[in-house]
Amino acid sequence: MPALSTPSGAGLTPSLGARTAAGRDVSDRRPGAPGRRSSVASGVSTLGDDVLGSLSTLRDHALGCTRCPLAETRTQVVFGVGDPHADLMFVGEGPGADEDRIGEPFVGRAGKLLTTLIEGIGLTRDDVYIANVVKCRPPGNRDPLPFEIASCRPYLEAQLDLIAPRVVVTLGNFATKLLLDTKVGITKLRGQQFPFREQSVIIPALHPSAVLRNGGAALAQARADFVVIRRALATT
Ligand code: URA
Repeated sequence: MPALSTPSGAGLTPSLGARTAAGRDVSDRRPGAPGRRSSVASGVSTLGDDVLGSLSTLRDHALGCTRCPLAETRTQVVFGVGDPHADLMFVGEGPGADEDRIGEPFVGRAGKLLTTLIEGIGLTRDDVYIANVVKCRPPGNRDPLPFEIASCRPYLEAQLDLIAPRVVVTLGNFATKLLLDTKVGITKLRGQQFPFREQSVIIPALHPSAVLRNGGAALAQARADFVVIRRALATT
């Protein structure tokens, strides 16, 4: 499975940076997970080792984050939810109004669809981890800006380090382009597997909001993406 079959011209360089995981407390990490390197190259600043030691210290730090102007308009930081040792992690775009109010990713209409798709492959939300590219709601549900994505990126990279999922599903364009370091759009990349870090794969999938907007054919594609996810979990 060479995108494990990378489309030609995709420019899909795994986004690894230079920071080592040495010296971190890995008590939140999945047993047997390989040592990870976090990519902070695109972040405007790095997080200290005291913050990076566990998912709970990272979360505590994130809850008070003022790295970008989204801090001024959010109701609360939507850090992420689920099993800290999950084999499967979803990365969405950013919180919407419901998520900003409740403090949990994917709890609105798109979230209900995501939950249905997860349950369709025999899992529950508690079995997986769900996070976003940006942890604070962009006002009016606008797209996150490059500076906001770069500011928030160290949190996502640290979540990936600490959870060490075997399969990372990037939901939609923002997560896919960020983690695969590509300009190629989701419609070309969805449902394929790409090597990620030492022993993981990324599977881009349609964003549930796009599925809700586009209806039947998109839903069939999303279900097909989840078949790929189920198979990857069984074999990776
Ligand atoms: N869309 C996202 O990308 N993330 C959420 O948490 C909710 C909707």
